[in-house]
Amino acid sequence: MKITVYSAKGSAGKTPIATNIALDREYAIGTNERFHVFDSFIPDNRLLTVDLTESFPTIPDDIDIVFDLAGAISEHSHSITSALSQSDLVIIPIFNEVKSLNAGIGTINEVLKFNQNILVVSTKLQKQSNEHFTGDWRNSRDHQNIAAAIVQSGLSDKIPVLPLKFSKVFDAIFEKEMSIRQIMGAEPLAAYTYREIAKQFDEIYKHIDGVKHA
Ligand SMILES: Nc1ncnc2c1ncn2[C@@H]1O[C@H](COP(=O)(O)OP(=O)(O)OP(=O)(O)O)[C@@H](O)[C@H]1O
Ligand SMILES: [Mg+2]
Repeated sequence: MKITVYSAKGSAGKTPIATNIALDREYAIGTNERFHVFDSFIPDNRLLTVDLTESFPTIPDDIDIVFDLAGAISEHSHSITSALSQSDLVIIPIFNEVKSLNAGIGTINEVLKFNQNILVVSTKLQKQSNEHFTGDWRNSRDHQNIAAAIVQSGLSDKIPVLPLKFSKVFDAIFEKEMSIRQIMGAEPLAAYTYREIAKQFDEIYKHIDGVKHA
């Protein structure tokens, strides 16, 4: 399985999503970020780095890899286009803030030129003080705004959107160099604190498992 996590917007949470997948599923990581954080916890033989303008090699189908990509798509961004066009799935994180929404919609349109299999992740979801919803975070205002923005921009309402709430665990992944599930296994209290975000990641894994190889 080859997965790209990409958004033209920085700080959307691409790296923690890619890292959590890599650690849980023992995927290799491909990155075009010069100052990445993976050296200390991803073994050399599972880490592939290129420059923005350099293509990733074609990865054999029996190797699982997640590409964590930064930068904008242009005619020179071969790292991004080579990862997008060989991936089975492209995950695009978007949060409910004007710049992220705009960049997210723009990113979906750009990605569609290279890959039609997109999963949007609505991320950093927070409950507003006057907000009450029951059930899961799909019912939150943040998530619904993101889903609505995609449809209103003329993009298909068939692009799936899965929710990830705001959680401090996204920083803990790098502090502890463990996936959310690994942190929960190591710390009894964390198993309680992070149960909801872990379940949301399980939905992402379920989606990944339903994806057929391109
Ligand atoms: N769902 C979330 N809840 C809380 N914090 C989050 C969430 N997702 C991401 N963050 C935090 O937002 C910050 C930005 O994430 P990060 O820089 O890794 O994103 P990125 O998309 O990889 O950005 P870049 O393009 O700069 O590489 C980090 O501190 C991260 O922990
Ligand atoms: Mg990053």
